[in-house]
Formats: sequence, C-alpha cells, structure tokens
Amino acid sequence: MTAKRATAEVIVMSSAERATDEAAALFKQAISHAVADRRVCNVALAGGTTPHDLYQKLADDVYDCDVPWASVNVFFGDERDVPHDHVDSNYHMAQRALLDHAPIPPEQINPMPADAEDLAAAAAEYEQIIRRIVPGEPIPQFDLILLGIGGDGHTASLFPRTDALAESHKLVVSHHVPVLGRNRMTFTYPLINAARHVMFLITGEDKADAVAVALGDDKRARKEIPAAQVNPTDGKLTIVLDAAAARKTDLKPAAE
Ligand code: 6PG
Repeated sequence: MTAKRATAEVIVMSSAERATDEAAALFKQAISHAVADRRVCNVALAGGTTPHDLYQKLADDVYDCDVPWASVNVFFGDERDVPHDHVDSNYHMAQRALLDHAPIPPEQINPMPADAEDLAAAAAEYEQIIRRIVPGEPIPQFDLILLGIGGDGHTASLFPRTDALAESHKLVVSHHVPVLGRNRMTFTYPLINAARHVMFLITGEDKADAVAVALGDDKRARKEIPAAQVNPTDGKLTIVLDAAAARKTDLKPAAE
C-alpha cells in the first residue's frame, strides 16, 4: 500500500523483511540519484535495532550493485553517550553491519562524539563538520536522512517533553534524556527538515500506537509524537512500515 499522508509517501509491506528490502532499494536509489546529480551523497544513518538488518542487506550486495559508495559521506542522526566501540553505540552497530564492508573511504565516515567530556562543544563541532561538508544555505541539506521511531514516538534522540524539541537554531545538540537517565547527541528539527529526503523505516507491533497517532488526524495527539514533527520543508518524506507497525492504521500491505 502506498498512500499520501500530508506530504509523506507511506509504504506498507507485509513483513519486516519485505519492509527492509524496500528501504534498502530506496536507500540505494537515493545514493545513486544524489551522486548522478551532485557527484556526492550526504547521508545520515539511524541507530537502534531496526536499521541493523537494512545495513546488513546493503552490505550483502555492496559489490554486486552499482551504487557509488565511494562518493558517500556518512553521518549519524544521533548517538548514545558511549564510546564508539561500545555495543550500545549507533556507530558501532552501523560499522559492524555496513561500514566495515562498504567501499566508503574512512575519512568520509563521521561518527558522532556523544561521549565527549564537553558535550555542548562536541555537538557544536559536529555541526561545524556538517556545515563544512554538506552544502546548503542557511542549513546544510542532506540527500538522505534515515530515521526510526521509538514506542514513545521519539525519533533520532528527539524525545517527548525534552528541550531539544524546541531547538530552532542549533542543528546538533547534546542533552540529558530523563526517561533514559542518559545523555544523547542528536540532529534537531531544523537540520532534519532541511533534508532532500527523509526516510523512516518502522517495523514491529511495539511501534503501532505511535504510528497510528503520527499518521492519524488528531492534531493534539500528534503534537506529542516527536517523529510526527518531521516534515521536510522542501524535501521528500517516505515512511516504510511493516504490517505490524501499521496495524492500528487503515493502511494495508502493498500487493507484493
Ligand atoms: C537510537 C535511535 C532511535 C531509534 C528508535 C527506535 O539511538 O535509539 O536513533 O531514534 O530509531 O529508538 O529504535 P529501535 O529501532 O531499536 O526500535
């Protein structure tokens, strides 16, 4: 099923595996189109567990497909306050699943320093790296930002009822997330919504409530869902779901 919700293209697949396949195809297409048009693709990866199989799938055919990986600059939309070799690190997950297998020059991979001593300075520095590498004025425009959603509706590390949601100038912030009791570093809405293309990959029953609200018509309820505030100003929004995550919406899986 492909539907338009506001400005989003919503694609519902029958299983998590098929949703991951669809997201992988769209991910490779975004890279190829960006490099064909602008000789480079600036992409921000999501963390958590959902994208792991996507990254592995991309790695599986990295040498079979004609995706210009060598022209990709990799960033991270958020990171946990752990070292990059820690099992909880989003960089660590992406490195093991994809980055160690794709022919991307190491100097084009930009881990987020979310375990720095001075997190505010580290966030500001990461923003400067983005501004140096990713074109776009007044806000750098990523070719693709991959996002997930938490059961509480958070995306990247923009969690409900945190000040980061209201950040309208900084593009990257570090903040303490009370519900986790931990610090996180994250893209903010100005940077996310400046992207050419934002793609959500969402699978699993545990996301069905947040998805139903985010795609629903209750404006007040939707405001409580940080992922629902992602709406690229001049870009494409694609939401790839499996049937389990879409269960509480009126959307049915595409014929496959
Ligand atoms: C993170 C992610 C986060 C993630 C959601 C969903 O650092 O955890 O960037 O925003 O997308 O928490 O996580 P799962 O994919 O593990 O359900």
